[in-house]
Amino acid sequence: MKSVLIMSCDTCAPRIAESIARGLESQGKKAAILAPVASCKEEACGNSVCERQAAQWIAQGKRDQLISLLIDRVEEAGKGVDVVVIRPIKASGALRCAYDLNVELAKNIDAAVLPAICADNKSDDEIVEDIHTAIGVFAQQGLAVHAVASGCNDAVVARMAEEKIAVLQPPKRNLKFDDIVASSNVVPPVKFMRFLHAKARQNKKTIVLPEGTLDRVIKAAAELHEQDLVRLVLIGKKDEVLASARECGVTLSDDIEIVDPKTDPNFGDYANTLYELRKAKGMTPEKAAQLMEDKTFFGTMMVYKGRADGMVSGATTTTADTIRPALQFVKTKPGIKTVSGVFLMSMADRVYLYGDCAVIPNPTTDQLCDVAVASAETARAFGLDPKVAMLSYSTGTSGSGPDVDAVREATEKVRAADPELAVEGPIQYDAAVVPAVAKTKLPNSPVAGHANVFVFPTLNAGNIGYKAVQRASGAIAIGPILQGLKKPVNDLSRGATVADIVNTVIITAIQAQ
Ligand code: ACO
Repeated sequence: MKSVLIMSCDTCAPRIAESIARGLESQGKKAAILAPVASCKEEACGNSVCERQAAQWIAQGKRDQLISLLIDRVEEAGKGVDVVVIRPIKASGALRCAYDLNVELAKNIDAAVLPAICADNKSDDEIVEDIHTAIGVFAQQGLAVHAVASGCNDAVVARMAEEKIAVLQPPKRNLKFDDIVASSNVVPPVKFMRFLHAKARQNKKTIVLPEGTLDRVIKAAAELHEQDLVRLVLIGKKDEVLASARECGVTLSDDIEIVDPKTDPNFGDYANTLYELRKAKGMTPEKAAQLMEDKTFFGTMMVYKGRADGMVSGATTTTADTIRPALQFVKTKPGIKTVSGVFLMSMADRVYLYGDCAVIPNPTTDQLCDVAVASAETARAFGLDPKVAMLSYSTGTSGSGPDVDAVREATEKVRAADPELAVEGPIQYDAAVVPAVAKTKLPNSPVAGHANVFVFPTLNAGNIGYKAVQRASGAIAIGPILQGLKKPVNDLSRGATVADIVNTVIITAIQAQ
């Protein structure tokens, strides 16, 4: 099912919608018309979200929930049809942000946007200029315009055809299906989060949270349980966990297991297993028993033993302390030597993957190659089609030096390791993401301008890079997601919010699938 969202003044939107729908039907396509938000008095209100409810949700900060509900309505309208023609959400007394909402909805359903351009009393040049302005405005929002509606003459239609912009001329029904349904193939954030929630829910995993007495962890656990996304184990003394929950006003469900390492019947077995696994590295039975009292070692051992499917920790410990037990005895998957850490960067209109931002300070070319191959696999697991940029200060041969040579060598190793993978390097960040820059610097690369997986040359670059983008753009950084381990263990930043913890647990559960 495809969708096309009309951007126009209130009065002509219904006419344009009708024109498109009937035109498509005459080409043998089934079309439905939807007004996603409507005043309760309107006829179209049946399948619409009530305007007053939409305004209330925005006022209450529930914008994402509103977008999610609107996506549901589009999906419902799309059952059994080829295309849903969506009338724009109108600004009204209560709802003042209609333009933003339309743009956000268009991004989240990957709709083709069709602006209506008024032709009254304008010369051909003026109409063309208005069309270019509309295209430019939507391009700035990350939306591609392939068609417009305008009561213009055939000469303007011919001029726009040269630019591959189709023009619907109401009341004519002259728009072809393929002209309007071209989509941008980006994965926007709300759609992405819905995908993650649905994926976690469809095969629920058990995740252990060693910092079970921490208020942020308790709140995240309650939220995850309420949304029925995972099964949870909190580590800590039961009375302390429950007291912390009471203090932060949370009632923990009995379905959430609470495990105290010191009184757990498996403690001896876990300590002995650690001793056996690490005795060649100098581990003693006494030291193993002492380490097993540590909540991170205990949680990691629960994962090793299969009692939990994954672990999320690190809201109070350093990255090194959080992941060292996993590096020591969970170990890497067969065929992978390097554990690395990536972030899913949920930008305003798309999702990127950045790595390594967490583990390897100065990677060798083999390790960079491992990071790239593992990052592509992680991207696929989260529904992205990977296009990998091996980042450098040089694009192709524009710069030189040992660091550039290392990225070039690593890129060759990636090509040898996975010949099917779309990879480019060395490449600068702008050439990797901006099609216009890519056209000048690397015109024949299928990755340049369209990369969505970014491999940084060092941990310094990766860690600084993801934080700079996060802070400058407001992107949501989900991670670090550790990749390469036999079973998923993920580290939280010590500044992790409840939402960060919830997201990381969902990601870990999906990795465990
Ligand atoms: N992949 C696979 N195995 C590894 C890796 C790796 N990247 N790194 C270490 N190991 C293994 C070693 O082979 C060793 O195994 P063995 O004991 O069976 O021989 C074991 O892990 C321990 O190795 P050490 O060399 O002792 O590693 P150490 O514990 O000193 O350091 C660590 C590993 C913690 C990952 C270190 O590289 C580190 O501190 N990295 C930086 C972490 C960091 O500060 N990140 C930035 C902050 S995170 C953020 O902001 C998101």
